[in-house]
Formats: sequence, C-alpha cells, structure tokens
Amino acid sequence: MPSQVDFRRVLKTQRTIEGSLLEESAAVWCVLLQAQHATWSWQGLSPGDYLEIGVLHGKSASVLASFSHEYGNTLTIVDPEIREETKRTLNSLSPRIRYIDSVSERLPQSDYYAANRRQIAFAHIDGMHRFSAVISDLQVCETLLANFGIISVDDFHTDLFPQIPAAVYKYLYSGVSDLCIFLVGLNKAYLCRNIAKKYYREFSGKQLLPSLEALGQRLTLVKTDRNDSFDAFGIAGFYENRIFGSEHPIWE
Ligand SMILES: C[S@@+](CC[C@H](N)C(=O)[O-])C[C@H]1O[C@@H](n2cnc3c(N)ncnc32)[C@H](O)[C@@H]1O
Repeated sequence: MPSQVDFRRVLKTQRTIEGSLLEESAAVWCVLLQAQHATWSWQGLSPGDYLEIGVLHGKSASVLASFSHEYGNTLTIVDPEIREETKRTLNSLSPRIRYIDSVSERLPQSDYYAANRRQIAFAHIDGMHRFSAVISDLQVCETLLANFGIISVDDFHTDLFPQIPAAVYKYLYSGVSDLCIFLVGLNKAYLCRNIAKKYYREFSGKQLLPSLEALGQRLTLVKTDRNDSFDAFGIAGFYENRIFGSEHPIWE
C-alpha cells in the first residue's frame, strides 16, 4: 500500500473546486490524514474508510477522495442533493467513492451504518447546520468512528452558525460521549476518542506546525490553558509568534 500522498497536488486540486474550505484547513487535513494513516499498521488497528456528510461541489471531499485513491480505502458521501457534476469531479479522483443520497439523520436505519460501526478513520460533518442535526451527526459519527479515527466539524467558530459549537459542547459534556476535542481552529474542530487523545494531542503539539510550515503555511499553535475538561490546542492565522500561550506541555 503506497503511503506517500503528494500533499501539494491534493491542495492544488481542491483549490480548483468551488466551496469555502480554507486552504489552511485543507493543509491541516493532509497532515492529520497522514498521522491517522500511520496508526493503521499498529498492532490491533486496521485501515479505515472516510465519510463526509454534506458535499455540495466536493471541495473538502476532494481531499478525502485524493487520499482514498492513494491509501486504497473508500470514501462515502452522504447528502440528500448530490449533483452529477460533483460525482464526476470526485470519481475522477478516486475509484472508490460511494454515494448515499439521503439526509444524514436517516443513516442509523441504513445498511451502511450497520456494516461500519467503529470502522471510520475520518469523518467530516458539514451537512445540515441546525443544532439538532449536529447532535445527530455527532452520534452517528461517534458510533462509526474507529479507535484512532478523527471527526472534523465544520463552521465551528463562525458568526453565522453559533449553534454548532453549542451543539458540540452539549454533546461532549452530556456524559455519554467518548469523544474529546484535540485541536480547534480555522473554522473547524477536530475530535477523537479518549483512547487516541494522547497520540493526537502530542502530534498536534510537536509535529503539526512543522508539517504545515513545510507546506508554506505560516500559522500559530495556541495553548493558553490546560484543563482535563478541555485540553485542546488551537491553530490560528499567524499571531505574534509560532506558539501563542504559555501552556504548551513539555513532553520528554
Ligand atoms: C455547506 S455545504 C457542504 C460544503 C462542502 N463540504 C464543501 O467542501 O464545500 C452543506 C451540504 O449539506 C447538504 N445537506 C443539507 N442537509 C443535509 C442533511 N440533513 N444531511 C446531509 N447533508 C445535508 C447540502 O445539500 C449541502 O450540499
């Protein structure tokens, strides 16, 4: 299985597709998808598939499609209105794309859901932006998420959709979720299971910034607090220094 994805080609491709994915977030995805892929060879873990809820023209899905082409896994798209042009765009990037023309709230009744519990390596939630729909998508994605899988939630901190962080925090602090946020910024929140928290926090703290810098992204890693209830790193447009905040943990 080839493991080297040409990030610059992936980023160039997504640039040609209409949509609102930030170039910086596309770069974050490349780096996280590679870090996630590295876990597939660990003892007890196995390759996983990708899922996107809400595709529109396929800008963010193009990143997942490009990785699926290299890694040999499947990308599933869930959206009640999948355009033929979007399918053509994505099918040109990977032969392994599955389309479910449905609202994501119906996924729990699907064969896909029954067959993919704890199998998904990376899920992007970018469909219906209502509070209740985000809660539903989080429940679905948590059920489907593999032990070292990642959930990316779009429009996390924007003025237009304040209900999205409200729904995510309500879900996380309900006491029944196994998820936590390990990274937040550039419009997105990144969640993983508690078992994977140490790996993704350390990766974010040590390797994220240099990897992004190698892609030409000058960003700031933020750590202004440490608390067991919320211990995520932030990633932001360059602000004063490469690291902002004095709470970056020192790992030996
Ligand atoms: C913001 S757009 C997605 C943008 C896309 N990820 C990109 O990279 O540009 C939202 C999409 O969610 C879809 N959508 C709306 N309601 C949905 C639902 N209940 N379940 C799944 N998708 C939904 C819409 O049809 C639309 O394509």
